[in-house]
Amino acid sequence: MPSNKPIGVIDSGAGGLSVLKKIQELMPNEELLYLADSYFAPYGPRSKRVIKNRCFENMGFIELQHSKALVLACNTATAAGVEALREEYDIPIIGMEPAIKPAADLTRTGVVGVLATEGTLDSEKFMDLESLYKDKVEIITKACHGLVDEIEKLKIDQGEIVKLVTEYTEDFLKRGGDTLVLGCTHYALIVDIIAEIVGPEVVVVDTGMAVAKELKRRLQSEGLETDSKQKGRISFFTSGNTEDQQVLLSRYWGEKVPVLHYLNFLLTI
Ligand code: DGL
Repeated sequence: MPSNKPIGVIDSGAGGLSVLKKIQELMPNEELLYLADSYFAPYGPRSKRVIKNRCFENMGFIELQHSKALVLACNTATAAGVEALREEYDIPIIGMEPAIKPAADLTRTGVVGVLATEGTLDSEKFMDLESLYKDKVEIITKACHGLVDEIEKLKIDQGEIVKLVTEYTEDFLKRGGDTLVLGCTHYALIVDIIAEIVGPEVVVVDTGMAVAKELKRRLQSEGLETDSKQKGRISFFTSGNTEDQQVLLSRYWGEKVPVLHYLNFLLTI
């Protein structure tokens, strides 16, 4: 039976908008709920336990909205909590994972770079993934400390972002890397800056569209797609300051959007 219930999309902050855009592009009639857990952003330096708690807290909110599916549009949260969420909830839950597999197929030099948070790179999930391709290609990982904080700043400092990306891609470029995986959804928001720094010879791989397609496939296979012919509504929520988040989310979404507060967050930590 088609379902007109919303699809929840969660990230620590604005990064998941890069995935939300692709979902909207692919399934314009679906109703979407975006939750930016901004009060707790960035997730990258936090412990697995705290991030997992955040996943459950956020999921509670998404469930209250009777969502039919969840996209955990955050590599760090996926690494920490997606399996536990799947054990607990029956709805389709789609997570993010650095696109090493497609990168390993694409590379001509045999050198692949992965930019991600420390939380993602230190996770067991990532290490398992990396070990599947380690013999096939050289994988250069870089934990991009401070980059999410810069992307989340209300007043963007482009110079600082350029400085950090230059530093974090230096080793990859020096070692002949030609395929760079964006292992954090926030980095997709600055893909133009990253592409310019690494140059036209490097393929930059983002997983947003692949995740949107996987969501569509899951909805189709479970008969959960909407039958609405109208453009789907998108609602934005945050655990942070709504005025600030309105400015930030509107900047990355590309138009002014209202942002409501999500009150649940006091219960955690
Ligand atoms: N956007 C997230 C990711 O994909 C998390 C970034 C953060 O909060 O540190 O990893």
